[in-house]
Amino acid sequence: MVTDYAREMETGAPGTEATTLVLGGTGKTGRRVVERLAAPGLPVRVGSRSGEPPFDWEDRTTWAPALRGVGSVYVSYYPDLAVPGAVASVRMFAELAVEAGVRRLVLLSGRGEEEAQRAELAVQEAGAEWTILRSSFFSQNFSENFLLEPILGGEVALPAGDVPEPFVDADDIADVAVAALTEDGHAGELYELTGPRLLTFEKAVGEISRASGRDVHYVPISAEEFASALAQGGVPPETTDLLTYLFTEVLDGRNVHLTDGVRRALGREPKDFVEYARDAAAAGVWDVER
Ligand SMILES: NC(=O)c1ccc[n+]([C@@H]2O[C@H](COP(=O)([O-])OP(=O)(O)OC[C@H]3O[C@@H](n4cnc5c(N)ncnc54)[C@H](OP(=O)(O)O)[C@@H]3O)[C@@H](O)[C@H]2O)c1
Repeated sequence: MVTDYAREMETGAPGTEATTLVLGGTGKTGRRVVERLAAPGLPVRVGSRSGEPPFDWEDRTTWAPALRGVGSVYVSYYPDLAVPGAVASVRMFAELAVEAGVRRLVLLSGRGEEEAQRAELAVQEAGAEWTILRSSFFSQNFSENFLLEPILGGEVALPAGDVPEPFVDADDIADVAVAALTEDGHAGELYELTGPRLLTFEKAVGEISRASGRDVHYVPISAEEFASALAQGGVPPETTDLLTYLFTEVLDGRNVHLTDGVRRALGREPKDFVEYARDAAAAGVWDVER
């Protein structure tokens, strides 16, 4: 649906073009947001180190050029809102964006993360219309991120015990983001986004095994075993610390409940993990021979 807000921005005052800046625009959710905006011809700019102009969270001189002529921003921080300095960067970026004329900010946030909730506040206080997408663990982590290699290797060893997680599909997050960026009626909303079902990692890996035809199993390990396996695999210490924090703190049972964020934002149910596994298998992501 091309939307009142997008149309208004297109025909608005001189200098307020309808360009949407999508931070992390080549990543798991950002890429999908860019595709959905570009399909009906809405002006969109990828905000990442490979964008044109480039945008780098680590280099503030890149922020103002990326914001030129922008009316709304999808804010996906990298690597995670839990890393030191993230909240300050998001606050500074949001303030600069508003100074530059941005009228709408949509933040991708994480469930049950104290730091992420502080970043939400920074966006809410920046002075633009805001929508928060507070998301659970993405299904696509198994196909487009750090769990792809373990799936291909046949064993997913994580310190997640048998705590269930309501995995959410990046397609649903992107649909909600695009609705919030382009339609009226989402300003001031905090959407907590989960899938429709709680699944343990064992069950999730089982669904992937069935859908892909690969022999893959889940092995629960301790946080110490996890950290030392990552270090031995050459993963940088800051990434090891972040992943260990996420698995031990955020997956400690605090998020074991479903929410209605997708239904509230879109008027439909979220995508089930089985559908995700079937679609990813059909796209061939797990076809690689090892
Ligand atoms: N993964 C999850 O399950 C999950 C759940 C809830 C919330 N989140 C939140 O989602 C956000 C994104 O995480 P993700 O895992 O989905 O990552 P992602 O978006 O897949 O990350 C990759 C994107 O970040 C860009 N990028 C990398 N380094 C950058 C830098 N220094 N400056 C600017 N852009 C940079 C990459 O493009 P270039 O390489 O071109 O720069 C790419 O577009 C995080 O804030 C995280 O807290 C994630």
